[in-house]
Amino acid sequence: MASEMKREKVIVIDFGGQYNQLVARRVREAHVYCEIFSYRTPLEEIRAMKPLGIILTGGPNSCYEPGAATCSPELFELGIPVLGLCYGAQLMSQVLGGKVERAANREYGHTDITLDTTSPMFAGIPEKTTCWMSHFDYISKAAPGFRAIATTENCPFAAVANDEKKLYGLQFHPEVLHTPCGSKMIENFVRKICGAKGDWEMGSFVDETVASLREKIGDGKVLLALSGGVDSSVAAGLLSRAVGKQLTCVFVDHGLLRKDEGDQVEGVFGENGSFDLNFIRVNAQERYYKKLAGVTEPERKRKIIGEEFIRVFEEEAKKIGAVDFLAQGTIYPDVVESGLGGESAVIKSHHNVGGLPDFVDFKEIVEPLRYLFKDEVREVGRKLGIPEYLVSRQPFPGPGLGIRIIGEVTGEKVKIVQDADAIYREEIDNAAKEFAIGNAAADGITIDGENPDYKLLRKYYPAWMPDQYFAALTNMRSVGVMGDERTYDYAVALRAVKTVDFMTAEAAAIPFDVLQRVMSRIINEVRGVNRCFYDISSKPPGTIEFE
Ligand code: XMP
Repeated sequence: MASEMKREKVIVIDFGGQYNQLVARRVREAHVYCEIFSYRTPLEEIRAMKPLGIILTGGPNSCYEPGAATCSPELFELGIPVLGLCYGAQLMSQVLGGKVERAANREYGHTDITLDTTSPMFAGIPEKTTCWMSHFDYISKAAPGFRAIATTENCPFAAVANDEKKLYGLQFHPEVLHTPCGSKMIENFVRKICGAKGDWEMGSFVDETVASLREKIGDGKVLLALSGGVDSSVAAGLLSRAVGKQLTCVFVDHGLLRKDEGDQVEGVFGENGSFDLNFIRVNAQERYYKKLAGVTEPERKRKIIGEEFIRVFEEEAKKIGAVDFLAQGTIYPDVVESGLGGESAVIKSHHNVGGLPDFVDFKEIVEPLRYLFKDEVREVGRKLGIPEYLVSRQPFPGPGLGIRIIGEVTGEKVKIVQDADAIYREEIDNAAKEFAIGNAAADGITIDGENPDYKLLRKYYPAWMPDQYFAALTNMRSVGVMGDERTYDYAVALRAVKTVDFMTAEAAAIPFDVLQRVMSRIINEVRGVNRCFYDISSKPPGTIEFE
C-alpha cells in the first residue's frame, strides 16, 4: 500500500549483506521512504520505480570471484545518485574500471578514519572520526573519475566519490551504530545528494493508509486474528479507523499469555475500549491445557499450540461466515526475510498465523503494515492512541508461556510463571526508570516518574537495559527451607538479553541488587518457587527462549 503512494523513494539493492534491513531503516529515519530489492532485479524495473537514489549493500562475497553477485554498468548511467557500501563500494569501483584486491590483513572493527568534509557526503561531520570496518578486500585503485574522500591507515580509498555523476562508495558500514556519524552520512546522501525533502512521516502514513484502506475495502467485511502483540494490535487500530464495525477481531486467549494480558487486550479493543470494531474474545484456556497435558517435547508443544489456534479460529470464522478481506499484521522484515532470505535450517518452528488463509472464506488479504519496520509500527500505534504498554511490548512468542515452561504445561505452572514474570518485569522497569530519571536529571532534564515521556525515558535508560527479559519455569524442583518448613519447589529462571536483531544475543548485566530484589520478591510472593537462577548464556549457543 505504502509503495503505491506517490512519495519520494530510495531503493536499497541487496547483495546479501547482514545489515541490509538496517540500511533501509536508517534511510527511513532520515524521513525518506525506502524499499529493499534483490540485486537480481532487472534494470528496467529499477528505472521504472524512478527512485531518487540507489544504495548498494554489503555482501558476503568478493566481487572479483567468478559468479559473485554483480550489477550492470548501466546502473551507474541512469543519472540517479548511487551509494555503495562495503561490497557495494567495491563492486561499483570494479564495474567502473577500478581495482579490488584481497587485503594483506582483514580490516575488522572500530577504525579511525579521516574524512574530506568538503564532500557533501560528509557535511557536518568532524574530519577525524571512527567507522566500522568489516572486509577482506579493498579498493586498490579507484575507478576513472573517482577520488578518495576518506582514508584509514590501511585503506587509501576508504571512501570514493565521483561528484559529477553523484556516485559514492564507502568501504565501511555507516548503517551500524559502531559508526557514530553513520546515520548523518546516510542522511547526507538521501537529503543533500539525492535531494529528497523527507516526506516519510508516520502521521501522514496513518492518514494515507486509512484513506487507501477505505477505498480498497469499500463496504466489505474484514476479519483479523488479533493476538494482542504489537503488529496485530496496530493493524486493528488502523483498520478500525478506516472501516469501523466492518472489522471483526477475533482474540484467542490460549491461557499462555502473560499475567493479565488477556484483560488488557480486551480493555483496549473490547466493548469498553476506544476502538470502533467488533471484538470477539475466545477463552480457550482449558482446551489448550487439555491438549498439552502430558506433552513435554518442545516442537510437539509448539505444533499443538499452533494447530489448536487454527481450530479455534476456524470455529469462530465459521460463525462469522464469509468475509471479503482477511487482514494480517505482516510487517516489512517478514516480507524481506521471506522474499530475499536463503534457506536456513529450522531451529525452532515459529508459530505465526500463516495457516489461516487455507480455511477462512475470504476474497483478498489486506496487510496495512506490509512496508513498515517494527519501530515505525510502534510509532503508528502511538499516533492511533494505542496505550504505550501495548505498543512498546517486548517480543512475545506465538506459543507464549507454553515454551517458557520447560516440560509439561499445566494451569498451575502457567500461574507460577505468570506471577514470577510480572514481578521480574516490574522490578526491571522500575529500576531502569529510576536510573533514567537520575541520568536525565544530571543533564538538567526532568522526567515525570508518574507519567513519563517514553522516548526520553528510553534515551536515558541504563546500558544494562535488556532488549528482552522474562521469567521461565524450569522443570527442576529442589529442596529448600522456608520458615521452619522444608520445601520441595520449582526453580524459576530469569532471562534478560541485549540484542540488535534477535539472531545473536548476550546476557544483560543487570545489577546484582536488582536481581536480588527480584529473587526475594518471587520466592516470597509466588507459591511453589524456592529458587531463582539468572541465565547468563549467550546466543549462540543458547537461544533466547528456553524451548
Ligand atoms: P530464539 O528463542 O529463537 O528467539 O532465540 C528469538 C526471538 O524470537 C522470538 N520467538 C518467537 N516468536 N513465535 C514467535 O512469534 C515463536 O514461536 C517464537 N520463538 C521465539 C523470541 O521471543 C525472541 O524474541
